[in-house]
Amino acid sequence: MNIDSHSHLLPAVDDGVEEIEESLAILEEMKLKGLQRLYLTPHFFSPRSPTDPAEIMKRWHEFRLELNNHSVEVLLGSEIFLRPEVLESDLIAMGESNCLLIELSTQRKPHYLLEVIEKLQKKGFRIILAHLERYHYLFKRGGLIFGKTEPTDDIHKLRDMGVLFQVNWNSLDKDPNARVLVDRRIADITGSDKHKRGDNRLIIDFHDDRYRLFLNDSFL
Ligand SMILES: [Fe+2]
Repeated sequence: MNIDSHSHLLPAVDDGVEEIEESLAILEEMKLKGLQRLYLTPHFFSPRSPTDPAEIMKRWHEFRLELNNHSVEVLLGSEIFLRPEVLESDLIAMGESNCLLIELSTQRKPHYLLEVIEKLQKKGFRIILAHLERYHYLFKRGGLIFGKTEPTDDIHKLRDMGVLFQVNWNSLDKDPNARVLVDRRIADITGSDKHKRGDNRLIIDFHDDRYRLFLNDSFL
């Protein structure tokens, strides 16, 4: 099945789409590229785009039928910014699954990274780390000069813990971190992370062979 795991197309809740018409237009473009299932993943706990879970649920109930009327299955999830407080909150998982899409600070490694993820796993959640290529502190340079980027031990540790890694489709062409994750078969899932029309993020072309490098269908 052709699945986009990551999008901000639930209107008027975060820094994504504002109007349902825009969501439907993007959905139509995605459908032409072969999309069969889309997860809406509004920000949750994000310091850059604060949201209210009640508002997310309200918008979801307002728009779910309209969004699902286009021969693409549209499900609600969320993109949860990792903080210790998430352990005390009701979290929105991906559709009916037990998967949580978790994002990290792009600035510095949270000191509670492994601890909070482990506690979420103990609560029964499967963790997907969103756009892993963005967290520069999880990569190192391999060689002395012009060295290739390498995943750090943290990535291997997270993998050993059973964490899944999502890479943005848009990063495949240009991001060395994304490339090494795909080349080493460390990347599990891809998503568009589409926010708006004209946001310069490519929508997934499911006819492109590179989609077969991912296992979206196995986990979501
Ligand atoms: Fe996102």
